This record gives sequence, structure tokens and C-alpha cells, in this order.
Amino acid sequence: MVPLKRRKVPSSASSDSSPDVACKFPQVVLFLLERKMGSSRRTFLTDLCRKKGFRVNETFSESVTHVISEKNKGDDVRRWLRSQGHDLTIAHLVDIGWLTDSLRAGHPVDILEGHKLHTTDYTQSTHKEQLTSSGGEVTTRSIPAYACQRRTTLSNRNTIFTDALLLLAENAELSGDDGRGLAFRRGAAVLKALPEAVTDMRRLRGCPCLGEHSLRVIQDILETGVSREVESTKQSERYQAMKVLTGIFGVGLKTADQWFRDGIQNIHQLRHSGRTLNRAQQAGLAHYDDLMQPITKAEADVIANIVEEAVQAELPGSQVTLVGGFRRGNPSGHDVDFLITHPQEGREEGVIAKVVSRLEAQDFLLYQKTTRNSYMKSNDGPARPASSMDHFERCLCIFRLTTGEQHEPKACTQAPGEDSEGRASKRAVRVDLVVSPFSQVAFALLGWTGSKLFERELRRWATREKNMSLSSHALYDNKQGRYLKAATEEEIFAHLSLDYIPPSDRNT
Ligand code: UTP
Ligand code: MN
Repeated sequence: MVPLKRRKVPSSASSDSSPDVACKFPQVVLFLLERKMGSSRRTFLTDLCRKKGFRVNETFSESVTHVISEKNKGDDVRRWLRSQGHDLTIAHLVDIGWLTDSLRAGHPVDILEGHKLHTTDYTQSTHKEQLTSSGGEVTTRSIPAYACQRRTTLSNRNTIFTDALLLLAENAELSGDDGRGLAFRRGAAVLKALPEAVTDMRRLRGCPCLGEHSLRVIQDILETGVSREVESTKQSERYQAMKVLTGIFGVGLKTADQWFRDGIQNIHQLRHSGRTLNRAQQAGLAHYDDLMQPITKAEADVIANIVEEAVQAELPGSQVTLVGGFRRGNPSGHDVDFLITHPQEGREEGVIAKVVSRLEAQDFLLYQKTTRNSYMKSNDGPARPASSMDHFERCLCIFRLTTGEQHEPKACTQAPGEDSEGRASKRAVRVDLVVSPFSQVAFALLGWTGSKLFERELRRWATREKNMSLSSHALYDNKQGRYLKAATEEEIFAHLSLDYIPPSDRNT
């Protein structure tokens, strides 16, 4: 039991106590909050508790040691207690989970972190009021809990912490623990959005999305300059191998994990392992070094010219937009993403195949895999919960980028890759071409601009706060039972009751 500061030992003569079963734990007095629990469940639980020898008071009083609530936020319970004129320091505020654990154990169990009702339930609330002191003055600053409510530019004053948290996120994901990965990513995103560098743990008090684990990592770095956990993760054989193997184009987590368990830890070992690789993996391995090199904006612009020319030649009047990280203003990226559409809906069908043939004839493609559009709009709304998977016609390819040389038939205007003797340099670059019907293009643009976390947060917001379902194809309102149209990204934000966030501020 966690001792209470001012616990009062109730008198055994309290009229509230169970009259029939002997009270086994006189130090513990429970009060079950009816709010959201409902009166019949409350009565049922009260009877159960008393049968097991717990003391339960019908009304709240100073003798209560544990206030038990279900589906309530800490703030709401506190507000309720205060409205009843009660001092909040006298009792533990715990979730129903503490009671069920205690009933199962047959005695009051220790209050664990997960049992506590926190000030605000961040998974429910959308804002967190934070007290900060600046120049001796305490001001209230609001940090929204969802990344899609915040503006996050490329300027990050807390890279020392975010690099650490993102490495732990990556490691968790490489171990198949996406939930933990996401928790670290959300924590890092909050730090990225802070306008100043964190120099003191007190600065983080009340910040949303920073769990105990993330806080420990930050504290370690503040105290010693490094996080021991991050350092040991970096040294770990599995982390290093999985990072290299999943870094190969065409290799997913499952394959990499199997290879690692078969003793393959690096590119050299894979090359000499005699493994059968699929077409994508063969290309990934063949161009591994090139594809590991970040792509510059200048290189992306060269690719943009080539793609634009090919698309216009095959389908005049098309719109080609550079999306992904480059649309967010990133100076470099791991691939180049393009969204293609045509104002006359239907004309865009099949354009990818033509564009790909053209690019192949021009010898621009080292690898390509085209998938057809498989999106089906159902009148009953999306069948499954909103997911990050989309169903557009799409081409995953590897371009042969020749810089510093005149291309035929289209002249290439930039020569960022020319070597010192003025010769052209060649390299492989990952390119994604996505085709959207015109009526879905705002959703496609929003979905393909990223960042990935920003997209996840948008979908989470839509689902949890708006009872809507957002994908890269459409927005469905579950309450109204209909799709909401949008011609621009601004309209989608408006449907979601969010302030518009421009691409440059989606760098969560
Ligand atoms: P990227 O993986 O290309 O990321 O996805 P990025 O932000 O451009 O960063 P780089 O490339 O590592 O520099 C771009 C966007 O496209 C969406 C992602 O959710 C992301 O928001 N996307 C990507 C999809 O919707 N579906 C996919 O299959 C791939
Ligand atoms: Mn990209």
C-alpha cells in the first residue's frame, strides 16, 4: 500500500460500512464514483467489494482513502470532488483497474502508474495547459496533444533529445513493437515543436505525450550528455544488422529478421549467402550504396523535369506535383515522390503504364513495379478502420539519374553531379509515382505530403475526436453517414475542425 499523508482511520461504527461481512482492511475505505460508471454497475461493484471484505462508503467523506472511477479523466474527477467541497489531497484517485486488480488479488494492491488517474488523459484530451515560468513570471502555455494541431517546422532546437528518442522508436519498430515506437515518436514530436532547447526537466512538466520512459532518456542526456539506453542500443548487434538489412529496398521486417536469425548481419554476408532474392531485392542490393545516399533538392528537381516531360507527352494537361518530404521543404530525402492527376476525371486511368514505357525507352529506369488502382468507394463508408495503406495506381521505381550531361530528348538544365573533370556522374535514385483521380486529389495530396507521423495523427484525430474516417482517398463522416467532399487541403482541415497547417509546418 502506498501510505497516505493524511489518511484518517475511519471509525468502525461508520454507517456506510457493510453491515454483514467483516471488514478485512480497515485502513482502506473505497468510494465509487457513479459518474460514467452508472448506478447499477456501481451497486454491483459495491456488493462485490463488500463480499470480499472491502469497506465501501456510499458517500464521499474525509475517511475515504480511494476514489474509484471508470472512464473518467483525472481533471473531471477532481472538478467533481471540488464541486462537492472536498479537499483533493486526502484520497488516491484511481481507475477501476486498481479495483479489479485488488479484487482479483483478494486485498488492496499497490497503486501502480497505470492505476493512477492522471491530471489529464492525453489520449482523450486535445490540449494540455502547461505552466511555464519565464523571467520569474508564470504563464500558461497550451501544447496541443495531437501533432496535427501543432506547427512543426524544420528548425528543431532539441535534436540531441529527438535523435535519441527516434533511435529508440526505430529500434522498437525493428523489434515489431510499433506501439512503443509510436510512443517515442510522439514524444520526439513534442520536443520538435518546442520553440527553445530544453535545459531543465522542469520545462517538460505537463507536456503531452512524454511518458516515463521518454522522460528518463531526456533526463539521462541532461545529466550525463548521453542516454545509456541509446548508446547500448546503437552497439547492439541486432539493431545494427536489422537497420542495414531493412535499409535495402524491397526488404521488409520479416525477411530481415529471418536473415538475421540465419546469421546474416550485413550486405557483404547477404551477397555471399546464396539467398534467392526477388526482383525488388536484387535491385535494392545492386544499387544499395547509391540508394543510401540522401537525394538533394537539386537532384529531385532534375527528376521532376524528366517526369513532367514524360507525363505531359503522354497525357497533356496533367498536373504533376512534387510531394513527400520535398514538398515540406526538406533539403534532402530518401526518395522523390510525385502525385499525378488530370482535371478531366478518368483521363488519368492507365497513364502510369504509358509514362513508364516512355521512361524505359529513354533508359531512365533501372527498376519499376506498377500496381493498378484498387480503390473502391463504398456507399456505406470505408469498410475497415482508416489505414495508411492506399490503393492508387502507383509505380515504385529506381531511376538512373545522369547529371552533368545533356539528356535526349529533353535537355536537363542542372548539373549538380558533375565531377571535377566535367564528366557526367550517374546514380540510382528511388522515385514514387502516384496517380489520383481528380476528385480525390486533395486527399491524395494531404496523404502523400507527410510526414508519416503527421498523417497518423490526422487520422487518429479524425477517428477519435471527429468520428470520421480519413484516408488518402476520402473523408467519411460516420455520424452523418456520408463522404465529405474537398477540393483543397484547406477544406479537409476545415472539415476536421483543425487550423490549416501548411506543408512546411508538417515536419513532425
Ligand atoms: P515517404 O516515405 O517518401 O517519406 O512518404 P518522406 O516524408 O517523403 O521522407 P523521405 O522520403 O524519407 O525523405 C511520403 C508520404 O507518402 C505517404 C507517407 O505516409 C508519407 O506521408 N505514403 C508513402 C503513403 O501514403 N503510402 C505509401 O505507400 C508510401
Ligand atoms: Mn519521400
